Amino acid sequence: MTDSLTIRRPDDWHVHLRDGAMLEAVVGHTARQFARAIVMPNLSPPVTTVAAAEAYRDRILAALPADADFTPLMTCYLTNNTDPEEVRRGFEAGVFTACKLYPAGATTNSDSGVTDVANIRGVLETMAEIGMVLCVHGEVTHADVDIFDREAVFIERVLAPLLEDLPQLKVVFEHLTSEEGVQFVETAGANVAATITPQHLHINRNAMLVGGMRPHAYCLPVAKREKHRLALRRAATSGSAKFFLGTDSAPHAREAKESACGCAGIFNAPFALESYLAVFEEEDALGNFEGFASEHGPAFYGLPLNEGRVKLERAECDVPDGLDADDTQLVPFHAGETLRWRFAN
Ligand code: DOR
Ligand code: ZN
Repeated sequence: MTDSLTIRRPDDWHVHLRDGAMLEAVVGHTARQFARAIVMPNLSPPVTTVAAAEAYRDRILAALPADADFTPLMTCYLTNNTDPEEVRRGFEAGVFTACKLYPAGATTNSDSGVTDVANIRGVLETMAEIGMVLCVHGEVTHADVDIFDREAVFIERVLAPLLEDLPQLKVVFEHLTSEEGVQFVETAGANVAATITPQHLHINRNAMLVGGMRPHAYCLPVAKREKHRLALRRAATSGSAKFFLGTDSAPHAREAKESACGCAGIFNAPFALESYLAVFEEEDALGNFEGFASEHGPAFYGLPLNEGRVKLERAECDVPDGLDADDTQLVPFHAGETLRWRFAN
């Protein structure tokens, strides 16, 4: 039995670091485990300009623990009015690593999102030309579409036609949650990849709804039926370079989650590697973990691999029921459980 695993330092290709006191409370958890992270721009107001991204990057760097060695990779939040030249300028200046497409109304702070991809045709054309990655929240938001079908319908109505129109565009289908999504990414060209969260590998929709409503298992896209979870586990652990680590760690104060209208988001940053590793071990795929965590993401983004190494050991790791943050608490993913691996650095 393997008792420890040493891998190249991993990156998180999708994280919400928030701002202000929440940023201060959470950024250390991500910086402890990851060398770099793609930072989501869904602040209020959203990060839509080069200047806003630079200022946000500075606030992230200022909030890091003194000994941290961590690089935030910034994203531009696309709106119906995004100027293609602003995107080009930010990418060429090394400020924007990617753009993020939120369909309007799909999730937290997405009200300024895009109402129809036709409205950003010029931006997407520029991105295809310069080789910039589009990170996609792949859900339609029409009231007539069942929430469990939103991802599959997005593929059919939005993503497949978009890639036919712009076959060179580099797309990361973020936080994939469905068998249809896995199939789509697997059969698409090498310019299409996906991130997978720890929660969608561990839980299906029962975790949210059986024995009571469990707000800490609620995130968007929502966890789906068991067959989808199994498809995601196969994809993540397969060794395919199209799938890589993106936690979608999305902290909300305990009281905002445990509410009559609870916020979407699972805070998984504190034990992210331990959580993923449990899945790879259960799938007998520890040998594919380094690719998923540390190699496929940089290869897709065209960024260098990290140089350092991190070690994970087989040892019990108790996840607390809550973590103090600012004047509230955050409930981490796996709260109250004991995980089998521990991050050793
Ligand atoms: O569950 C989620 N929370 N999904 C998202 O897409 C956004 C995120 C957040 O920002 O809270
Ligand atoms: Zn997210």
